[in-house]
Amino acid sequence: MPKYTLHVNGQSRTVDVAADTPLLWVLRDHLELVGTKYGCGIGQCGACTVHLDGVPTRSCLTPVSTATSMQITTIEGLAADAAHLHPVQQAWIDLDVAQCGYCQAGQIMTAAALLKRNPQPTDTDIDDAMAGNLCRCATYYRIRQAIKHAAG
Ligand code: FES
Repeated sequence: MPKYTLHVNGQSRTVDVAADTPLLWVLRDHLELVGTKYGCGIGQCGACTVHLDGVPTRSCLTPVSTATSMQITTIEGLAADAAHLHPVQQAWIDLDVAQCGYCQAGQIMTAAALLKRNPQPTDTDIDDAMAGNLCRCATYYRIRQAIKHAAG
């Protein structure tokens, strides 16, 4: 099988997998970055969201062979360092957003990308940006409040 070198959370990691292997499974099964979750596998739920060059992307639909030239950031690499959470992560804790928690890594990755491109989003901006991230516990109100909290 071909080898692919990925740039994940600031590190170079080489994996030996088929070209069409979804990035989601490379992250979870080969690199043990299991914070990124499998929800639907067909691009509908957002649980598998990671950043590719800062852009929120569904890793379940991203063949590993297309990601080699990009900076991949997962929930494990979102914080600047181990001592300081990303402001969105801290807001999620402060506002106790999660219920079951399964979708929340994907929610946080999408929210962090939103605030990077739009530091003061309106409710409509937030709802538009987050519309593709589903939450079966319906934590949407707290998600919106936490994004505003992180925006300051
Ligand atoms: Fe990728 Fe649902 S698991 S969008």
